[in-house]
Amino acid sequence: MRNNGADRAPGMMRSLTSVSLKPALDAIAKAVDARFDRLLPIPDDPRRRLIEAMRYAAMEGGKRLRPLLTVAACDLFHVDKERSLRVAIAAECVHVYSLIHDDLPCMDDDAQRRGKPTVHLAFDEATAVLAGDALQALAYEVLADEHTHEDPAVRARLCLALARASGPNGMAGGQMLDLAAEAEPFDLPLTTRLQQLKTGALIGFAVEAGAIMGKAEEKSHVRLRGYAHDLGLAFQIADDLLDIEGDEEIAGKALGKDGAAGKSTFVSLLGAPRARAQAEMLIDQAIAHLDGFGTEADLLRAIARFAIERDR
Ligand code: IPE
Ligand code: IPE
Ligand code: MG
Ligand code: MG
Ligand code: MG
Repeated sequence: MRNNGADRAPGMMRSLTSVSLKPALDAIAKAVDARFDRLLPIPDDPRRRLIEAMRYAAMEGGKRLRPLLTVAACDLFHVDKERSLRVAIAAECVHVYSLIHDDLPCMDDDAQRRGKPTVHLAFDEATAVLAGDALQALAYEVLADEHTHEDPAVRARLCLALARASGPNGMAGGQMLDLAAEAEPFDLPLTTRLQQLKTGALIGFAVEAGAIMGKAEEKSHVRLRGYAHDLGLAFQIADDLLDIEGDEEIAGKALGKDGAAGKSTFVSLLGAPRARAQAEMLIDQAIAHLDGFGTEADLLRAIARFAIERDR
């Protein structure tokens, strides 16, 4: 029988023994690259530079955690793979756009992302801004297309959910709080809110999109929302831990930036050991939210463990 983690003491490090995540991560990485290749043909005119920047940012890199979450959540409801991949791509488009803008000189001013020079350095700032804008638009173009779902109400619901997850009450709002967290001290509740918006909201979309696509009953939405909420927080705590103790070569981005910027994070507020314990507790909770599902949710359970065991 597969081990869903319920029989282990909270706070123990888990290993990825039940479902092997590696093949799933490899498969989603390939599928996402192939999709972006199809979605982003290079035109024979001066827009070429924009499309090249979009391809540069979106292809061949990243863990593809959000697309994998979407496909895994869609699988619970037997959504057609082609369709679930479209929704997965939309989530990744918004994520990549957020990374391009996050790295800009006016934000985190970073030189490396996914092991490559950031888009504004490989191209230029204006192109990086436009590549982010265009990836955001592409997300909605893909969702609103009838190939994503025959029911326009489902397509509208997806667009609404993604807009909520990325706007002022989602990622963009979280990024604003994140900037403010450099200037003024944030307490734990405000830091939790920051993380939920900055990172959790889009992860929430990636997961709940499965229930939207599957026209699932409300209790499935509730379970998946609970899972994504705890996973999102734990994922960002892991990002903050990596920032202080990770390897830049493996992470593919500059680390040690939060401390240098004097930014309030779970790690600065709790210290690394308690932050790690908190992340582990959240992952136990995330997995517990899936108790109403059987082995079909094992991939989601494995992703949850990976979210805090990762080294990049
Ligand atoms: C990095 O996200 C930014 C955060 C929201 C913490 P990921 O760690 O998922 O980055 P990629 O997609 O693997 O590059
Ligand atoms: C970025 O958070 C979150 C978004 C892009 C929404 P961070 O600034 O902590 O991400 P990294 O560490 O640069 O990947
Ligand atoms: Mg940032
Ligand atoms: Mg950053
Ligand atoms: Mg970070």
